[in-house]
Amino acid sequence: MARATTDNRVRKNITRTARPFSEKYGPYALVAGGSYGLGAAFAEGIARRGVNLVIVARNREALIATAARIREAHGVDVITIAADLSDFDDVKKRVTGLGLDIGLLIYDAAFVPIGSFAEATEDQLSAAAAVNVRTPLLMTRLLSAPMIERGRGGIVLMSSLAGGQGSPNLATYAATKAFNTILAEGLWKEFTPLGLDVLVCTAGAILTPGYEQAESARPAPGTMSPTAVAEQTLNALGDGPVVVPGAVNKIGRFLMTRLLSRRAAIGIMSKNTGGLS
Ligand SMILES: NC(=O)c1ccc[n+]([C@@H]2O[C@H](COP(=O)([O-])OP(=O)(O)OC[C@H]3O[C@@H](n4cnc5c(N)ncnc54)[C@H](OP(=O)(O)O)[C@@H]3O)[C@@H](O)[C@H]2O)c1
Repeated sequence: MARATTDNRVRKNITRTARPFSEKYGPYALVAGGSYGLGAAFAEGIARRGVNLVIVARNREALIATAARIREAHGVDVITIAADLSDFDDVKKRVTGLGLDIGLLIYDAAFVPIGSFAEATEDQLSAAAAVNVRTPLLMTRLLSAPMIERGRGGIVLMSSLAGGQGSPNLATYAATKAFNTILAEGLWKEFTPLGLDVLVCTAGAILTPGYEQAESARPAPGTMSPTAVAEQTLNALGDGPVVVPGAVNKIGRFLMTRLLSRRAAIGIMSKNTGGLS
């Protein structure tokens, strides 16, 4: 048994050594939400591994600044698309218009309606469904099709510890994150035999502008830097279906999803999120 485990580990390392990151996931990676925070850290980590980039976000200036910084530091091509990911049809048109071989999709962007569900507007709920569910779903279909034809590629969907159980005052966001976890798990099994690596990153708190701007956000135990989360995730590509960056978060997820009853897990989550407004 021990021998078999060692053999498997060696075989995996050989496979990785034989196929460098840029060969498996290049020549271009698309980071949806790649202008700042975690998305920019993903873009930086991918560029460091020698893969060209397409980065998508709404703010054109932030995109251009990030693209220039990455080009300068890593000498890769960085194409920017200033677009709202809630409009999949527009994003699809602009991505397919590039005519590029995209070998890696990182879907990072999210819309986070914070506060009581009763007070959420239809616009907020629709935006969460569009940015966090509809677009990652359709984008995964759009970009996985040519990857399947090539017999190689990778897909990373961003989820959250909040998506492991109901999260009061973050209920919609948490539910959209649960969707991404379950989608990635299913696709991991479907796509692995076709040569694609699918991974869901179930992150705890990350010090991004988005996190810092959340009005009542209290620093949670195990809070990580965007770079640490991006690196642990990129290093886990091929070891799916799930990566939980950080030791504290690994323990937290095990406790919340495996050991505690659903009621107890929701109760604990509520202590962190119940006061959000
Ligand atoms: N931060 C945390 O503590 C934490 C914890 C667990 C999981 N996560 C997950 O990690 C991911 C990143 O989270 P974050 O909130 O911290 O964000 P972030 O990485 O700081 O930035 C979000 C990125 O997405 C872009 N973006 C947001 N909405 C967009 C839209 N509608 N269309 C196009 N681009 C859009 C932003 O640029 P523009 O604003 O210019 O569009 C920015 O580039 C999310 O999926 C989140 O669920 C975060």
